[in-house]
Amino acid sequence: MKLKQLESLLGNLDQFTEPKIDLEQYPTRPHIASRMIYTAANTFGDITSKVVADFGCGCGTLGIASALLDAENVIGIDVDSLSLETALSNAEDLEVNIDLVQCDIHHLEWRGPVVNTVVMNPPFGTRKKGSDLDFLLKALKVASDAVYSLHKSSTRDHIKRVALRDFNATSAEVLCELRFDVPQMYKFHKKKEVDIAVDLWRFTP
Ligand SMILES: C[S@@+](CC[C@H](N)C(=O)[O-])C[C@H]1O[C@@H](n2cnc3c(N)ncnc32)[C@H](O)[C@@H]1O
Repeated sequence: MKLKQLESLLGNLDQFTEPKIDLEQYPTRPHIASRMIYTAANTFGDITSKVVADFGCGCGTLGIASALLDAENVIGIDVDSLSLETALSNAEDLEVNIDLVQCDIHHLEWRGPVVNTVVMNPPFGTRKKGSDLDFLLKALKVASDAVYSLHKSSTRDHIKRVALRDFNATSAEVLCELRFDVPQMYKFHKKKEVDIAVDLWRFTP
């Protein structure tokens, strides 16, 4: 599938109807989500025919993108049941198969090398300090091949240090810096849209 087609399909997905700020529910826009998964698939061979887990899957955007690029199996995990319902109907609309699990990532226990690749846009840790790193640590434990994740560019040095030194990642590479556009979703948002500088990372466990 071509990048433009992937982006256009992701543009039709429903997103959070009742977003919960405590869970940092912000959708990854199609422009970023499509490039993230397309790069993982076509530059690194980490999606097609692989078992992919989408951590904090929300309405399923990254997992569905992986299924559209022929992942062997996709598992979406989120703590929020309402988002998982939307993810299910999004997957049905596009006629792709993804397994959905309601689970707090902190309680996730996974045994054995089942998952090749984790893709995620985790909470950035603005509501619960450290939740970005909690997601990363768990992802590096679960993935056998690679982890793709978005993190605020302002945390770049810290993320790299912790991933390599504390989480035993064998590599931590920023693939590109992106402008993550956050639409006006919550009452405290004063502007129509805000851009945040975000890094697309590839880690190897
Ligand atoms: C920034 S949103 C990303 C949503 C979706 N992956 C996307 O790319 O559009 C973060 C997601 O993480 C989920 N989340 C937050 N804390 C969580 C936790 N402790 N365990 C599992 N999911 C969590 C939220 O419900 C939300 O769907």
